[in-house]
Amino acid sequence: MKNNITRREWLVGSSAIAGGLMLGGAATAQEMAQMMNMGAPISKDNPIRMTNNENPYGISPKVMKVIIDAYKLAHTYNFTTGRKLIKVIADIENIPENTIAVGAGSTEYLTAAGALCGIAGGDLIAAYPTYASITRSAQNFGAKLISVPVGGDMSIDLDAMRKAVTNNTKCIYLCNPNNPIPSIIEKNALEQFCLEMSKKAMIVIDEAYYEYARDPNYSTMAHLVKDNPNIVVLRTASKIHAFANVRIGFAFAHPDTLKELLKFRSNTTSYPALMGAITSYQDKEHQEFIIDKNYESMDILYKMFDDLGMRYIKSNTNFVYADAGQDAQIVHDKLLESGILIGRKFEPFTNWIRISTAKPEETEYFVKVYKRDFG
Ligand SMILES: Cc1ncc(COP(=O)(O)O)c(C=O)c1O
Repeated sequence: MKNNITRREWLVGSSAIAGGLMLGGAATAQEMAQMMNMGAPISKDNPIRMTNNENPYGISPKVMKVIIDAYKLAHTYNFTTGRKLIKVIADIENIPENTIAVGAGSTEYLTAAGALCGIAGGDLIAAYPTYASITRSAQNFGAKLISVPVGGDMSIDLDAMRKAVTNNTKCIYLCNPNNPIPSIIEKNALEQFCLEMSKKAMIVIDEAYYEYARDPNYSTMAHLVKDNPNIVVLRTASKIHAFANVRIGFAFAHPDTLKELLKFRSNTTSYPALMGAITSYQDKEHQEFIIDKNYESMDILYKMFDDLGMRYIKSNTNFVYADAGQDAQIVHDKLLESGILIGRKFEPFTNWIRISTAKPEETEYFVKVYKRDFG
């Protein structure tokens, strides 16, 4: 069924105008651009970014001011601010300060853990599909990757992972919630798995989307690291704090394990980034605003999936995953013509699309375009 959606014209950017693209409904291109704070109309070259699971609101004004002010000291070396951020995180997480390390994004520690696994000459077990930083790094350092397909419900299959463990297993990577499939691992089963399997290998739990998860069956595993040198939990400021290109992330691990991971650290956090993070992590009100908006957008997307009879995975992140019923690359390319950039195609579910939440008003536009083009 095709939707007929042009009555009031909605001009969607210069290239779209040139191509005669018009949509009825909510906003003008100028309003749309203001919504995005980008000052340029939405187009193929300036799309609504529903692609990399970024925070569509950007850094909060309060944090932005702190970061800009901090640039006044950007010419100086700084060796103490990291400790202040660690204290803030320790208080929030209720874990000891000596179990926390700051980095330039969690990728630093995904890479480090992968390197440790490879150098130890062992295998890394990961779900398939999952986030690939650690698997790439481990393979770069000589590890063999053992991929364990997700279960029939598309969530990480702990029993299958358990069966995949051998004497060669050096690391097990669990992305929870997972990416690109935004499902969670049930907390009791996960804790049991971590306690049991950490006797055989290092367990790395990537909690990049932790703040968004609101399923009561979800829990962090941060409480396990203090007493267990083989459990590492990773977090990032890239998502809810919108620091994707400011670069702050964390490893939570036993001090002995942190010492090993820190050997691979690039030492590239900056004073403005650290100062911004100190303010951002303490600004609970802004975080709640971001979460509320995230789920508002998600409900708009769920409704569209229901309207169109599409299968989708209940999300505990800032992105959704749905069966488009056709090649994801075709859907991706077609949406881009209307100034919407969604996630790339992920093997092996080549008909499924990953859509990061945008602002609700942008998401309404997405729905109009999607229904017009694929409804
Ligand atoms: C699961 C997961 N882990 C880690 C990252 C990277 O985080 P960072 O920006 O902190 O390096 C991402 C980025 O999208 C992610 O999805």
